Amino acid sequence: MFRYLQVRRDGPVEYLTLNRPDVRNAFNDEVVAELRQWADGLAVDPGVRAVVLAGAGKVFSAGADAAWMARMAAASREDNERDALATTAMLRAINSLPVVVIGRIHGAALGGGSGLAAVCDIVVAEDRAVFGFTEVKLGILPAMISPFVLPKIGVSAARELFLTGARFDAARARAIGLVHDVVPADQLDRAVAHYVGEVLSAAPTGVAAAKALIPQVWGRAPEEVAALTARTIAGQRGSAEGQEGLRAFLDKRDPAWVVR
Ligand code: COA
Repeated sequence: MFRYLQVRRDGPVEYLTLNRPDVRNAFNDEVVAELRQWADGLAVDPGVRAVVLAGAGKVFSAGADAAWMARMAAASREDNERDALATTAMLRAINSLPVVVIGRIHGAALGGGSGLAAVCDIVVAEDRAVFGFTEVKLGILPAMISPFVLPKIGVSAARELFLTGARFDAARARAIGLVHDVVPADQLDRAVAHYVGEVLSAAPTGVAAAKALIPQVWGRAPEEVAALTARTIAGQRGSAEGQEGLRAFLDKRDPAWVVR
């Protein structure tokens, strides 16, 4: 179905693997289009509760395909900008999926590869993985990924890392908030499976509502979002899943949505 993506479904879990290993899963306009198509399909698929995003071959992703970036110089300014907007739309589509996206980072996540990590909800990395917003080393800059990276790593780390293009290790990626767990390579799949298990014991509509709430509340004063947060909890605790979860807790049983 896709040329550069491998998709495997295991019950409520979708395993999506970037599959362009010859160029270390660098992505060009075709990969961007496929990712967008995949995300649009997943957003309306009621059977999925978690996504695991990984890379085939030696690394997770070497980011934007340098040949594609160079080629855009020959395009009209309009086409050049339209192409960039397509990348933004793809990142937005993944970022706002109503299910949990877990990034599985091995080898390297550089440039847009680190940008893809930033649109995941949870990121697990092997301890020897290398990260970097390396774009300035190639004469370009981390532009389309910046709205997704900044809320994760903050302005201070961005000023250091965007402006130097320096590579950094998984421990640093975790310290700045890009990564949530760092494990030896042979424990990477187990760490991912742990998070999948956590997600599958959480209420799907509660998870989706919590994910949608975060960007609406972030950076705003409590009084500004009081009505929104009240409306959100009122809706959720009155919903079938809210009722099932609260009742199951009081009855000392698993809620119906738990998958073991
Ligand atoms: N765009 C296009 N091609 C890329 C690429 C990219 N971002 N990253 C790697 N490749 C290509 C290389 O040119 C090479 O092609 P070749 O086989 O025709 O020579 C192939 O992928 C393998 O790359 P190589 O560097 O030999 O692999 P490696 O396993 O030793 O190292 C990386 C992997 C990811 C650490 C290294 O390729 C790298 O640092 N890439 C650049 C990452 C980057 O700065 N991205 C930001 C882009 S804006």
